[in-house]
Amino acid sequence: MESTLITDALARIGAFWDADAATYDQATGHHPQTAIEWAAWRAALIRLLLPPPARILDVGAGTGFLSLAAAQLGYTVTAVDLSPAMLQRLTSKATAAGLLITAVVARADELPAGAWEAVISRHLLWTLPDPLAALRCWRTASPEGRLLLLESLWGAVADPIERGRSQARDWLRRLRGIAHDHHAPYDDAIRSALPLGQGTTPERLIDLVGQAGWPASRIERLTDIEWAMQRQLPLPDRLLGVTPRFAVTAG
Ligand SMILES: C[S@@+](CC[C@H](N)C(=O)[O-])C[C@H]1O[C@@H](n2cnc3c(N)ncnc32)[C@H](O)[C@@H]1O
Repeated sequence: MESTLITDALARIGAFWDADAATYDQATGHHPQTAIEWAAWRAALIRLLLPPPARILDVGAGTGFLSLAAAQLGYTVTAVDLSPAMLQRLTSKATAAGLLITAVVARADELPAGAWEAVISRHLLWTLPDPLAALRCWRTASPEGRLLLLESLWGAVADPIERGRSQARDWLRRLRGIAHDHHAPYDDAIRSALPLGQGTTPERLIDLVGQAGWPASRIERLTDIEWAMQRQLPLPDRLLGVTPRFAVTAG
């Protein structure tokens, strides 16, 4: 039986994201801000996934930009998330865009029944109590399929140069009075109990993906997406660049 520690942590994590849903899309790194950025994400999906109309499961889909980009390309998308409020935002956006996306409130390691040709996920693994169990569960849900993880290099695990850039970006943001990326800081006690709560290195991810039974992992830096994001920034910010993005694929 699962420990009450984990169920309590999941309840608090779910509550954080429910409260974050209203403002999540306002942060530049959370949601594409320009048509070029959307186009760069669509290009990455087409390059890294099987051709549409494959059945895709987006885990920890949040307000759903990835699900929306996949649905725009003709994929059949199911979006799963712990937070009903995040999924509500996703569903409103899908309806407004005339896109059909099935949204299911569920844990990343307790998926709805179904068979998928690919499992995709962005920026979820760091907030899971057991990322390895989730990756194993996704393999079971897509035994012959493709895994696509979209991640970025942040937190204590980033190299010192990137950490310095990130601090400078934070400083510029505060100087301009731009709100933080989230409605509140993440609970420190929870974050420090999460295996990837301080960020993750590409090496660690590749190792976890292999341990979970996904074969032949590959990695690439998402320079096109970084380029599309940088184009919208004012000059001093452009010199600092954006958080490095990368994709890990397997299967
Ligand atoms: C950083 S957001 C990423 C959202 C989206 N993938 C994106 O890239 O914008 C993390 C998302 O994971 C969801 N989440 C957190 N823990 C989860 C869990 N155990 N199972 C399913 N979803 C979870 C949160 O509700 C939130 O929507």
